[in-house]
Amino acid sequence: MEESINEIKNKTLDEILNAKNLQEIEEIRVKALGKKGELTAILKMMGTLSEEDRPKIGALVNLAKAQITEKITEAENRFKEEEINKKLETEKIDVTLPSKKIIRGSKHPLNRVIEEIEDLFVSMGYDVASGPELETDEYCFERLNLPKGHPARDMQDSFYITTEYLLRTQTSAVQARTLMANKDKTPIREIVPGKTYRREDDATHSHQFNQVEALVVDENISFANLKATLEIFMKHILGENTKLRFRPSYFPFTEPSYEVDVSCFKCGGKGCNLCKNTGWIELLGAGMVHPNVLRMNGYDPNKYSGFAFGTGLDRLAMFKYGITDIRLLYENDIRFLKQFDRRDI
Ligand code: DAH
Repeated sequence: MEESINEIKNKTLDEILNAKNLQEIEEIRVKALGKKGELTAILKMMGTLSEEDRPKIGALVNLAKAQITEKITEAENRFKEEEINKKLETEKIDVTLPSKKIIRGSKHPLNRVIEEIEDLFVSMGYDVASGPELETDEYCFERLNLPKGHPARDMQDSFYITTEYLLRTQTSAVQARTLMANKDKTPIREIVPGKTYRREDDATHSHQFNQVEALVVDENISFANLKATLEIFMKHILGENTKLRFRPSYFPFTEPSYEVDVSCFKCGGKGCNLCKNTGWIELLGAGMVHPNVLRMNGYDPNKYSGFAFGTGLDRLAMFKYGITDIRLLYENDIRFLKQFDRRDI
């Protein structure tokens, strides 16, 4: 019996020495010391031994167990340490490597222009207002002195959803909404940047485009206020040397009405292909708020007067940044947008 105990012990210690990983160690442990292990089997046979042999053999088995357990623990610790070292090696972070390039987005040219305009007008005490893009015929036309059947409706090819609802063709719709919401309260000073829709589609027109509207209503508002405001506005956006020209025009919601041209910023007014050799570029519609519009929306035209103007933001952005095709503003081509990743324009 002593012999077989020693044999088991030596064989097991040998196996431990040759084991290659934690799993093999565990298998060796089970084979020697587990419930059905070789040494356990010997312990189970103790009952068959003589009184005399029992303590001797018992001590031998226990010693063998202790030695095996010690070697197993040693081996386990060694393998665990190896594993940790391997992990540390493979997961090493080289902090001196260059980092991944962070691609920064840029502000869309339209948003740049809108923000610039908002900042300017807010600094002059205006509110920034908005209204629904799905608008009623009433607010888009009727309350702006454009009753059903009015010939001026032909100027704006509209997307009607039903006979009453359409995609707004002009941000002027918000003028009527603001007046109706404030009814006789003044002063009104607002700008309305927003999306508008018309049935057109070519290099300079898009079915969806952007306008900014301005409305001021108070006592004693005159054409001088309109002119001064537009001068500040245009010089701020297009440059100090910009000149303005007012041409008489017609809009149903203003009287008198004007179309406003700015001196060509490409040639400075000398004449070039951009201004078609006229030196001027047509940019805005403007005028004094029509008394009918004031009356219809709750303001007494004998007490109050106002001015309004509206302009296409896409055109403005195109002129400002020298963009030749309006569709570039809507395609989100990274190569195009990247050019606006600058703070100095
Ligand atoms: N709403 C007009 C358009 O889309 C532009 C316009 C003209 C707006 C005169 C105004 C205005 O506020 O007074 O063509």
